[in-house]
Amino acid sequence: MINSGKREIPPTVIVIFGASGDLTSRKLVPALFNLSMDHLLPNKFFLIGYGRKAVTDQEFRETLKKSLAAHSRRPVDDKIWKNLEPGVSFHQGAYDDPESFEKLKVKIEKIEKSTSEPVQCIFYLSTPPSGFLPILENLGESGLARLHKNTPSASKVIVEKPFGRDLQSARELNIMINRRFSESQVFRIDHYLGKETVQSLLVQRFANTIFEPVWNRNYVSCIQITVSEELGVGSRAGYYDRSGALRDMIQNHVMQLLALTAMEPPSSLDPEAIRDEKVKELQAIKPLHLDGSQQEVIRGVYGEGLVGGEKAISYHEEADIPSSSSTETYAALCLQLDNWRWKGVPFYIRSGKRLKQKISEIVVQFTRPPAILFGQKSQQPLSPNLLTIRIQPNEGVSLSLNSKTPGLETKLQPVNLSFGYDTTFGSNTPEAYERLILDAMIGDGTLFIRGDEAEQSWGLLSPVIDSWQNRGQEGLEKYAAGTWGPLAADKMLLNRGHEWITNK
Ligand code: BG6
Repeated sequence: MINSGKREIPPTVIVIFGASGDLTSRKLVPALFNLSMDHLLPNKFFLIGYGRKAVTDQEFRETLKKSLAAHSRRPVDDKIWKNLEPGVSFHQGAYDDPESFEKLKVKIEKIEKSTSEPVQCIFYLSTPPSGFLPILENLGESGLARLHKNTPSASKVIVEKPFGRDLQSARELNIMINRRFSESQVFRIDHYLGKETVQSLLVQRFANTIFEPVWNRNYVSCIQITVSEELGVGSRAGYYDRSGALRDMIQNHVMQLLALTAMEPPSSLDPEAIRDEKVKELQAIKPLHLDGSQQEVIRGVYGEGLVGGEKAISYHEEADIPSSSSTETYAALCLQLDNWRWKGVPFYIRSGKRLKQKISEIVVQFTRPPAILFGQKSQQPLSPNLLTIRIQPNEGVSLSLNSKTPGLETKLQPVNLSFGYDTTFGSNTPEAYERLILDAMIGDGTLFIRGDEAEQSWGLLSPVIDSWQNRGQEGLEKYAAGTWGPLAADKMLLNRGHEWITNK
């Protein structure tokens, strides 16, 4: 929620499907606990874990408490936990078993009786995608999806990523969801939107006068978005090898950063007004040339190398990755937006695993100042101004300006004006999932992806995925682990008169 208004949350039951999964213990439960510490959960709050295994309520509570100790950003306060614990229970059932859903409904009705108020149900789909269809069917058939429809306590559904594998599957998923829930009840997660710095991007753009006049093709030379990781595929081979960097990171997180950077000022802070503007930017992106003639798409895979001083093995040597795999662990694209504001400004976006550093940042590179008074031949060429919005780590914003170095000669050097969240506001900012779960409880969809947004993004990237699939390993560039990715991605920029600022 970008808006500041605090809204009343009705009594709430969150049902997590896939309750024994990693996400529940690492992110969801710590987020709920921290919301409770900040008194942001409704007084009448219940959590039901839904899963196939036979687990007693007590066992479930103990597992959650252990995971809290390991993953909560703040130490576990026993008083807060004791308050939450009685509302936590486990419901055993299969995703495709109507009877289990009928029993779930009875359980929820009992809770409602105990509160003597309408209870809103939030169904959190945190299962592998194969679980989505049967769960949605059964939420519909049992009537759980329709509870308190058209009231503030209407049921809601949160859908974890991946939201489809391509345009076709995303469309099918949307149809399936919208058969049971209206769009205002649907919350498609992209955890990047919950990051404090990503929300702040809109504030920086639209609560300051100085950026808007120069935020366009007249003053901006290029925009670069980097989301890089040091980690490799780890233990997620099964998922990742079927996915790759384009599906895993670019389609969602990076495209969202692009949309927020490029969008027009919305007419209000209404979720739909903001999402409408994002969709317009995604619609303006020109289809990519895939024949290699324009060098607009680069993919790579990590070879062995050194990451943070440690030896790292190549992707193809990782456990459970077949040597024939053509999955990309790195993708870089050069996108052009065909609209009045951005025509002719390249948006370079990239993401990869086993790169030199973990960084997510947006760099706005302005046009070079004319070398009239300074920056003539005899001196160093003038550097372009750069606005760097650091999403993580070292969250903050910096602006580089040309300045005179002290001395009798007129020598110029770029200097940075910097703002860091940590130094200004202290650390311990809320985790993305805290913000997102709170917003879903309030019913605010601003920081969630709307169905048409997801489809638009897939529409651009599905042809890239298809063409890569058809070419197998051909054109899959190797890069050494611990570097900034394939040289071809550097060339993509050099050929257009740019270079990756983050690499410097
Ligand atoms: C997830 C991807 O969505 O984001 C992971 O599936 C990736 O592969 C993760 O590691 C990165 O998130 P963050 O918040 O650490 O940048």
